[in-house]
Amino acid sequence: MDLNIEKDKTVLTHANYQDRQSILTTFRFKPCLSESSIERLNQASKKHISIEGKDLYVLDGFFLDLEGDEMRLVCKNLDFEVPVCAKTENIGKFAFKSRSMNNRGRWQLFSQPPNPFREFYQLLGTLACHLDIEIALHPWFLRGEVSSLPAFVVNYHEGMSAEDEYGDKHCDYEPEKGVCFGIPNLYSKEKELHKSNFVNGAVGKPLLVTAMLYSTSHEYDPKYGMGTAFYENGGKKVFSSDCIDMRLVLFEGDILHGVEKSDIPEGLDVWRISYVFKLTMNPSHSSQDIKAELKKLILKHTEINSKTNF
Ligand SMILES: [Fe+2]
Repeated sequence: MDLNIEKDKTVLTHANYQDRQSILTTFRFKPCLSESSIERLNQASKKHISIEGKDLYVLDGFFLDLEGDEMRLVCKNLDFEVPVCAKTENIGKFAFKSRSMNNRGRWQLFSQPPNPFREFYQLLGTLACHLDIEIALHPWFLRGEVSSLPAFVVNYHEGMSAEDEYGDKHCDYEPEKGVCFGIPNLYSKEKELHKSNFVNGAVGKPLLVTAMLYSTSHEYDPKYGMGTAFYENGGKKVFSSDCIDMRLVLFEGDILHGVEKSDIPEGLDVWRISYVFKLTMNPSHSSQDIKAELKKLILKHTEINSKTNF
């Protein structure tokens, strides 16, 4: 299978990230029409949640059981050497082991992907084609003065205390305050950049979406926790996604979220990994409403379900 990705490069729009270590390469998922992606999408179980007008989708069964097994095998060869926390000031303070992959390891995994990733890249290419938009990964790695922004993150957790759950709430980006990298305006004559601050997914504007795939050890049970909590802006928890092996969660990354606490029986050695892709969906026309079109496409053949906890 072709990797279905094209390299590009963007520019910084925020002085904070002008560091030698910042890598401004972006990766565009080439539009393609894959019948199998559409078939998988149609057959998957899908739920849609709206949080203060922002969309979140939970997809189960998009991947095959065999692909879940493959990801468990992949995990055995991954090095999680970087202490991790969404908020830099909390790094190293978590009571349980929480680690991330280093830059090199993430690059190897992204560029020599296991089959489930290839399926995911193909899904993105198919969405790009159906919606007539560009879908790209954010710049590969931005090193800031107080924090770093990797576009592809792999986090490993063996547990999470209630206190740490409280401290982990964050947004992946806040486009209304400003995005720190340039997004080309595809319908402007000179291919100018979109303004760096915009309402995520407003008509004619980019939609920034985070895609998160869970992988768990074989013995993992969703009741052991470490799913993802989503909050209203004011901090009220309004939705919880259980951590289910090979569950894919797509959400507007300006929804406040974080890993939930664990409840793992003593002596049980289990883990969960999240593979996180930060994506820009970029309209080709000024009248495009990507949010509405994406919703229609994902929820085709699905009754809209507004459950708030599952
Ligand atoms: Fe996040």
